[in-house]
Amino acid sequence: MPVALVTGGSAGLGLALVHRLSRDGWTVVTDGRDPARLEAAVVGLPDREVVVPVAGDVADPAHQEALAREVARLGRLDLLVHNASTLGPLPLRPLREVSADELLATWAVNAAAPVALTRLLLPQLRVASGVVVSVSSDAAVEHYETWGPYAAGKAALDQLTLTLGVEEGLTTYAVDPGDMATAMHQDAFPGEDVSDRPTPESVVPAILTLLLRRPPSGRYRASSFAASGLEVPA
Ligand SMILES: NC(=O)c1ccc[n+]([C@@H]2O[C@H](COP(=O)([O-])OP(=O)(O)OC[C@H]3O[C@@H](n4cnc5c(N)ncnc54)[C@H](OP(=O)(O)O)[C@@H]3O)[C@@H](O)[C@H]2O)c1
Repeated sequence: MPVALVTGGSAGLGLALVHRLSRDGWTVVTDGRDPARLEAAVVGLPDREVVVPVAGDVADPAHQEALAREVARLGRLDLLVHNASTLGPLPLRPLREVSADELLATWAVNAAAPVALTRLLLPQLRVASGVVVSVSSDAAVEHYETWGPYAAGKAALDQLTLTLGVEEGLTTYAVDPGDMATAMHQDAFPGEDVSDRPTPESVVPAILTLLLRRPPSGRYRASSFAASGLEVPA
């Protein structure tokens, strides 16, 4: 049975991925900081046994170790998805109003944690010839006012993910999912009706496409997979 670790699986894109993978027969380890929300998210899945919730903050080294222990117990890791992320200080604000500590806290979650976690999981990734997917953003390559801390963290995530790929001989992808109607998107646009954005479920096939087709390591946009005709059906 293939094994995945999806960070941030209690809401949004992470939850949609956990649902799809577990439905497809994967064993999925996942996390989220709020234990009650995490537990509620995995209740009601078709086979509760195949989802392993481990509550905690991805930036916490003790939590990273706890995740790694669960994966070591399962013996292999076919898919690692770095999905948990923070927008940084809210409301979004210009860089002149962001402290150095706030920058570092944002990058700890969005860039440093995925590297630390990947490093801990290298043995199980190698056993399974596993794939690493880091969920990026168009903000990594654009320059949007007030998005600086988040955007710089995602640009770093792209670089770190693809560098790990060449250093460790892994297949690694940085994936821009595009806008999605989620809590994070609502936080970025307070007071705006974001319900017209695509659902997180609509992005899942693009990630599965990378997994199944295994194009070369690199940065991909979910929307271009949908247009390629190669996409795995929802
Ligand atoms: N939504 C968009 O329009 C959009 C656009 C481009 C890229 N993205 C990217 O897509 C990914 C998913 O975003 P989303 O919109 O689905 O977010 P979301 O709906 O806010 O869900 C985020 C998930 O991550 C968990 N999480 C957040 N911080 C965490 C931490 N420090 N440690 C562990 N878990 C944490 C949350 O649970 P807790 O709060 O309980 O921890 C929740 O389960 C992110 O990487 C985001 O940057 C989103």
